[in-house]
Amino acid sequence: MRILIFFSIISWFSIININADEVIDEESFYPPYWYLAASSLDDFPLINGSSSQYRLIDPWSYLHRLGLYKILINITTPYMPFCSSSNASNILFALPSQFGWLFSSNRLFTYGTMRISTHSWWASANYYLSVIPFLVAMDIGLIKREPFRIIQRENFCTNFSECFNQIPDAMIQWYRFFYHLQQSSLCIGHKKIDKRIIDKCYLTHMWIAYKSSIYNSLPLVTSKLQYLPTNVEKSFGLGWAKLINLISMTRKNTNLYETIKNQRRFLPFRMLRKSDRKADSKDLSDSVNRSLKVLFSFRFDWLLFIEKVWGRLTCNFDSRLNAQYTLDTMAVSKLVALQYLAKTTFYAFFYKCDRLY
Ligand SMILES: *[C@@H]1O[C@H](CO)[C@@H](O)[C@H](O)[C@H]1NC(C)=O
Ligand SMILES: *[C@@H]1O[C@H](CO)[C@@H](O)[C@H](O)[C@H]1NC(C)=O
Ligand SMILES: *[C@@H]1O[C@H](CO)[C@@H](O)[C@H](O)[C@H]1NC(C)=O
Ligand SMILES: *[C@@H]1O[C@H](CO)[C@@H](O)[C@H](O)[C@H]1NC(C)=O
Ligand SMILES: *[C@@H]1O[C@H](CO)[C@@H](O)[C@H](O)[C@H]1NC(C)=O
Repeated sequence: MRILIFFSIISWFSIININADEVIDEESFYPPYWYLAASSLDDFPLINGSSSQYRLIDPWSYLHRLGLYKILINITTPYMPFCSSSNASNILFALPSQFGWLFSSNRLFTYGTMRISTHSWWASANYYLSVIPFLVAMDIGLIKREPFRIIQRENFCTNFSECFNQIPDAMIQWYRFFYHLQQSSLCIGHKKIDKRIIDKCYLTHMWIAYKSSIYNSLPLVTSKLQYLPTNVEKSFGLGWAKLINLISMTRKNTNLYETIKNQRRFLPFRMLRKSDRKADSKDLSDSVNRSLKVLFSFRFDWLLFIEKVWGRLTCNFDSRLNAQYTLDTMAVSKLVALQYLAKTTFYAFFYKCDRLY
């Protein structure tokens, strides 16, 4: 029975493994209009206020929000020595990359423009994954201080204190992430930077903050669910958000290349229609098709139990790595994936855990 449950989790994450260390800088991998977005605060419009000048940021413009992400990539890359060849190795790239997918699949309700609709559930949740880390990075001094103002829509928070009231845990976790990032050379010490170090010194904190932004944004944006075009899209969105925790436990690398690979494998390039419930839409790729099927049959009533077991199974580096291989090979061969799952279990129980579970 347990194995069956793992099968369902795993096939949802199924990814074909390509050489993960390959460095890419092809334009097509970057989010749409990446090159047009601001890369520092100076690139935002300067406003002459009555008493002072300030930069004006509109997070409901695709380009502006993308600019917030680009600034984050820009200022964090120097703290990630493994990014020396290309900023595509920056582990924060999952954020703009996912945002780019939301844009190109029209989940931001932009309809061919750059204007994000406040009706968009995806855009509203993503607000807390863009504005929040930006404000925290600014507060902690990673971004050069300069007067700025964020345009307010509805009751989305626009400054540090207001956001701290609205979504305190996410603010704290991003604070921790940036703090650990600044201290990363202490964490690395004299060791060679390899996957183990990236897992320990970088991905741990990134995944906690990422998860916190998503989980804590959901209750704040429930009023937007009604605008999603179909119930199938709604199940997909909510299901995806709930499963983030399982992915986060394997601490998969979230650089640009890894994220794009996963996105293309199992995220639908358009919003879902009613007819997609049966998961036999002809325009969706086979792997997307399959992952949707698994998602729609996932026993969310078992999620807490599954998370517990998965947490135990991913409690040290070697088991997490094998948990990732399990996911990676699932689409290719269930037998191979099962062997990796067995290895995951072996390492989880015979090697020392490096975290509480
Ligand atoms: C803002 O004020 C400065 C001088 O203080 C002026 O040079 C600039 O043209 C003004 N910009 C706008 C958009 O009004
Ligand atoms: C990252 O790399 C790309 C491609 O090499 C470059 O165009 C861009 O300016 C770099 N910086 C940021 C913040 O994206
Ligand atoms: C950050 O942006 C500035 C200004 O655009 C640029 O000079 C610098 O090279 C960028 N740094 C990184 C790490 O991309
Ligand atoms: C933050 O925003 C709120 C709401 O717009 C405002 O009332 C408050 O004065 C702002 N705080 C600061 C420190 O700017
Ligand atoms: C998706 O899956 C269904 C049922 O599993 C299958 O009938 C259909 O052909 C698949 N579509 C594609 C594009 O592979």
